[in-house]
Amino acid sequence: MSRAMRVLGIETSCDETAAAVVTDARAIESNLVLSQLDEHRPYGGVVPEIAARSHLDHLDRLIRQAMDGAGAGFEDLDGIAATAGPGLIGGVFVGVMTGKAIAAARKLPFLAINHLEAHALSARLTDDVAFPYLLLLVSGGHCQLVAVEEVGRYVRLGGTLDDAVGEAFDKVAKLLGLPYPGGPALERAARGGDGGRFELPRPMLGRPELDFSFSGLKTAVRHQVAALGAEAGTAQTVADLAASFQAAVADVLADRCARALEAFLRRCKRPGPLVVAGGVAANLALRARLAAVAEAAGSEMVAPPLELCTDNAAMIAWAGIERLRKGWRDGLDFAPRPRWPLEALAEGRSEGAAAP
Ligand code: KG4
Ligand code: ZN
Repeated sequence: MSRAMRVLGIETSCDETAAAVVTDARAIESNLVLSQLDEHRPYGGVVPEIAARSHLDHLDRLIRQAMDGAGAGFEDLDGIAATAGPGLIGGVFVGVMTGKAIAAARKLPFLAINHLEAHALSARLTDDVAFPYLLLLVSGGHCQLVAVEEVGRYVRLGGTLDDAVGEAFDKVAKLLGLPYPGGPALERAARGGDGGRFELPRPMLGRPELDFSFSGLKTAVRHQVAALGAEAGTAQTVADLAASFQAAVADVLADRCARALEAFLRRCKRPGPLVVAGGVAANLALRARLAAVAEAAGSEMVAPPLELCTDNAAMIAWAGIERLRKGWRDGLDFAPRPRWPLEALAEGRSEGAAAP
């Protein structure tokens, strides 16, 4: 029997430095994530220059630890996968150059991974989900519904017209005076709140197209906070505002996903599972709501475990395995990309990847 295919994954596209070793038997042999939260907290957001320098300071050691944790040497690897975009380009450079250097020195295939594709495929690593499926990708920078038909074949059904869901969580959390990062803090605050106390808008609810919009909802929270004056700062009101905002988001996501499941059925001629990925998929209240939507449609919801929803390198290694299994690899001339929409991914090589 041939030994398992084993890939080292590297993630440096935002504020997490991460390295992981994963096999094609879906074994996560190591999965290390070093958060830069403390470095960015004083600024209330990710500072690209600080992020890039921090990746540079920590990535080598983290890769060594991930290899040791897997009990593997570079000779035991079948490929090196690194996030090559989209993301903060300074950080992406650090991961891509490190990955290319190891691949060149060890004569291993290099895989330039699209961060969104890695989120999209992560449920196949954790739950062995078969194609096709409907993906709701919800993170700090992205909010879209995608029919995932095959590795490399993604059809966008709808997306946000303004803010991403995670971005809306982060901005509303800031308005409410909650600590950075906003998403998890807002979910915690909402637990003790009354989601029916404030009437907030549900943008796009009931619309036939499958798009989202969150900036109006965020503005409505701002007006509500201004109208409340000093009362907006009390713990109970913050909790009620957080719960009301989260309830509005849940209604919007539920409505959009219910419609998208119908569109998916028409397109793919069979009901697909609803896969939820990206950092916002860590939100347990939203997960519960989406699970109910999927069940009502005769489908099921699949979401990776919490630590694999937010940015990590196991999903990067896994995307590398999925591509390597197809016989695909990228050249060492692959240019990192700050923008790289999922739809631009052609099967095999990434579109334009070979540009000299
Ligand atoms: O996927 P991710 O780790 O990084 C990006 O690629 O964007 O997602 C981070 C986003 C942030 O906006 C964060 O506030 C949000 O996911 N997030 C949450 C929760 N945990 C993380 N939003 C709502 N509820 C949560 N529990
Ligand atoms: Zn992400």
